[in-house]
Order: sequence, then C-alpha cells, then structure tokens
Amino acid sequence: MKKALILRALTLATMMSPYGGEDIVADHVGTYGTNVYQTYGASGQFTFEFDGDELFYVDLGKKETVWRLPEFSNITKFEVQSALRNIVMSKRNLDILIKNSSFTPATSEIPEVAVFPKSSVVLGIPNTLICQVDNIFPPVINITWFYNGHFVAEGIAETTFYPKSDHSFLKFSYLTFLPSSEDFYDCRVEHWGLEEPLVKHWEPEIPTPTSELTETVVCALGLAMGLMGIVVGTVLILRVRCLGAASRRRRAM
Ligand SMILES: *[C@@H]1O[C@H](CO)[C@@H](O)[C@H](O)[C@H]1NC(C)=O
Ligand SMILES: *[C@@H]1O[C@H](CO)[C@@H](O)[C@H](O)[C@H]1NC(C)=O
Ligand SMILES: *[C@@H]1O[C@H](CO)[C@@H](O)[C@H](O)[C@H]1NC(C)=O
Repeated sequence: MKKALILRALTLATMMSPYGGEDIVADHVGTYGTNVYQTYGASGQFTFEFDGDELFYVDLGKKETVWRLPEFSNITKFEVQSALRNIVMSKRNLDILIKNSSFTPATSEIPEVAVFPKSSVVLGIPNTLICQVDNIFPPVINITWFYNGHFVAEGIAETTFYPKSDHSFLKFSYLTFLPSSEDFYDCRVEHWGLEEPLVKHWEPEIPTPTSELTETVVCALGLAMGLMGIVVGTVLILRVRCLGAASRRRRAM
C-alpha cells in the first residue's frame, strides 16, 4: 500500500514539473491519492492535493478525472484505472477492518459551519456565497441553500470532501448571488453528528445612514474633548508658571 503511494507520488512529480529531474524542495505538501471508502452508499473518493489545494478527483461512476481547474485537463493526465484499483483495495481492507473491530460503528463528529462572501459585498455586483463545513466525519452530508427562506435548486457548486490531517473532512458549497439589501440567505447542513439540521444565516451588512450619523457624532465629540484638553492643559501650565514666578519673587524679597 505504502509502496504504491510513493510510486504514484513520483509519477505525479514528473508529470507536473515542466523541468525534468529537478529536486522537489521542502515546504510543500503533495497528497497523492487519498483513498476513501465507506459502507454508507457503498461509496468512495479518490483525490490528489497540492499544498492543501485540490488538484483533481476521480469521478468513480463516470470513470474520469475531474480537475479542479479545467485548464489542467489540457496539459496533463491521470490514469483513472489506478484510482479504481486503489478503491477496490480500500474496499477489501475496509471489510477486514470492520470484522477486526467487531462491527463497531464509526463515531460521528459535530461539523462546524461558516457562511461568508467570496468578495467584499457591493450591492448589484454578482458575488459568491461560501458555506464552509469543517470537521466532517463520516463524509456523509447534505448541504442546502435557502434564499429568503426558499430552497435554492440552481447556481450551486460543491467541492469533494477535502481530507484533513485529523482524518476529518472539509467541504465547501458555493452559491452565486446578486447582493441586494432586502435579501437573506441560509446554509443548512444535515449530518449524523447533529441532532437537528444546523442553519447558518447570512445577509449583506449595509451601513445605514443612522450608523454613519453616530460615527460623525462620536468623532465630533472626540475632537471637542481633545481641544478642551489642550485648552485646560495650557491654562494649567500657565498657572503653574505664574505661581512659580510669584513664589520666586516672594523668596527674593
Ligand atoms: C482545451 O483545449 C481545447 C483546444 O485547444 C480548447 O478548445 C478548450 O477550451 C480547452 N479547455 C480548457 C478547459 O482549457
Ligand atoms: C485482522 O484480523 C486478522 C485475523 O482475523 C489478522 O490476520 C489481521 O492481522 C488483523 N488485522 C488488523 C489490522 O488488526
Ligand atoms: C440527506 O438527505 C436525504 C434525502 O432527504 C436523506 O435521506 C438523508 O438521510 C440525509 N442525510 C443526512 C446525513 O442527514
């Protein structure tokens, strides 16, 4: 198993590098062929990552490589058969592990959800909302979007499950949207680690005229207090000087 991974790592290095024979320097992490197989839905996942970014996954049903950046499909290739072979091996290993663990079910983790826009929000300028779901285990989840409370069926894209070093997974769901001051959005996550679906609300933060007014008032007050401080300070300094001069005169007498 280990041998196979290292072998394929080298294959990728020569495949991706435009200069043959160059050493791979440190500070980079390539994850070559993360094989996931689970009994639920009898499903698997095969992905390659570089420095935490997905390079591609293999669509196991269609038996084709899906590059994260479509341009890559024109400059490089990945042999799908090796992924399919690995998944078959993973399935066999899983069957053994299940028996060895006396059929103990996997413990579900509680996922963490955050919703935020891709770019800073400008009303009327198309943008993308990102629903980030972290700490997913097992990798079985439903992520759905709601626009003003209504289920959204279109304009959604989802990544695969990105493997993490703690063996949980990270997943993103994207919704293209047109920011408007009246609209609101919700990302709903269903997972076995949650007692009920987790809903994260999002709406554009539009600075209101009142808050601008408050800011102006606070600013003016601050300025006024600063000026008052200068005046009071000057008066005090002058007084101290006068007193000093007076006492010197008294001592001289
Ligand atoms: C791949 O190359 C073909 C032919 O040059 C081009 O038509 C196509 O748009 C390219 N695809 C991508 C995703 O860059
Ligand atoms: C699982 O059990 C089999 C025998 O039942 C044993 O040969 C094998 O080493 C065990 N594997 C693990 C990973 O515990
Ligand atoms: C996801 O949705 C489907 C269809 O509604 C449902 O059968 C399944 O139990 C859901 N999965 C989770 C993890 O809640």
